Amino acid sequence: MSVTHAPQTADVLARQDPELAEILLGELDRQASTLQLIAAENFCSPAVLAALGSPLANKYAEGYPGARHHGGCEIVDVAERLAVERAKSLFGAEHANVQAHSGSSAVLAAYAALLRPGDTVLALGLPYGGHLTHGSPANFSGRWFDFVPYGVDAETGIIDHEQVRTLARTHRPKAIVCGSIAYPRHIDYAFFREVADEVGAYLIADAAHPIGLVAGGAAPSPVPYADIVCATTHKVLRGPRGGMILCGSELSERVDRAVFPFTQGGAQMHTIAAKAVAFGEAATPEFAAYTRQVVANARVFAAALAEEGFVVTTGGTDTHLVTADPAPLGVDGRTARGRLAAAGMVLDCCALPHADSRGLRLGTAAVTTQGMAEKEMTRIAALLAGVVRGTAERVRAREEVRDLVDGFPPYPG
Ligand SMILES: Cc1ncc(COP(=O)(O)O)c(C=O)c1O
Repeated sequence: MSVTHAPQTADVLARQDPELAEILLGELDRQASTLQLIAAENFCSPAVLAALGSPLANKYAEGYPGARHHGGCEIVDVAERLAVERAKSLFGAEHANVQAHSGSSAVLAAYAALLRPGDTVLALGLPYGGHLTHGSPANFSGRWFDFVPYGVDAETGIIDHEQVRTLARTHRPKAIVCGSIAYPRHIDYAFFREVADEVGAYLIADAAHPIGLVAGGAAPSPVPYADIVCATTHKVLRGPRGGMILCGSELSERVDRAVFPFTQGGAQMHTIAAKAVAFGEAATPEFAAYTRQVVANARVFAAALAEEGFVVTTGGTDTHLVTADPAPLGVDGRTARGRLAAAGMVLDCCALPHADSRGLRLGTAAVTTQGMAEKEMTRIAALLAGVVRGTAERVRAREEVRDLVDGFPPYPG
């Protein structure tokens, strides 16, 4: 096999492996012909995809720039330094580690940097939107640490700040985690810092969801408040699937060693290059405008869903994320998700605070990248409600979805 040319086009794959090429094209068609409302997903740019599919994928690079366990790292060192510098400048952080393979790996490394097995950690409980890494018994976190969950107010759905303070005083945790997979409101990082300081705990912000909004200035930054900020790069931030950690200089060495060699092996240089591209894109005025539109769309979407009869958690949103209970429309979240999937509307179920049945978690990151705005969000809410109620004819609803997305191709041309 000749390796003189970098394989850059779908044509190469189509010629060499038509079976797989067909799978890739099938997925592209699925993404383009259905509505992507999963709050954790987005469409990254062709430049990000190009970096991901580049020959940097061939390179082994254990260690950090200038201190690698492998030869031939002089070029990828430049790529990683660029990614680190762009992340630091984008988020105003003293230190950035861009090697974490995923959001979960970033959280694992944060715990490894600050905690010992058996330590007590305060985090949002899973029924209220905590992530698996925030103490699930099915996850390393729940097995290795003693998690104490806090919750949200039963009436408002807002984090119960008084409970956080009381639990912190009672349990004196080694760390407090703030961050969620489904919380639609801004997190009060100053409050969490104050409580952490009062009880002598570290503050870990798991900003996997809002970090893209932070990059664009559409959400408050945890960086000035948290000892360690963990994040993903693939949600609103619109980069490759991966993780990132931000911290102050005093923790930089502990964080780096917690990533490699403690919890990971070789860095994935193609992904790190793609992160650098995404950070570059996120530093532009266009990206800032995009994040403002993401939030504007989510607000209109939440209001329109409420108008249609859904119970919208917290009564609205500050972010890209909306969670809603379809019970008043006569179905639970699982049934609703199944009906919507059949109509080409792709979204997640989620736990609802203080409800037995599951709700729907929706996000506006992907549709906003496609160019959809408030008008489309209102149309989607009406369509979605008709399908959930069972009043919209399924085939017709699917056609309407196709008609809508045809006007907003994620990868024009
Ligand atoms: C708050 C939070 N933490 C961690 C993660 C884990 O990210 P990953 O799936 O990349 O491991 C997620 C993913 O959605 C998340 O929302």
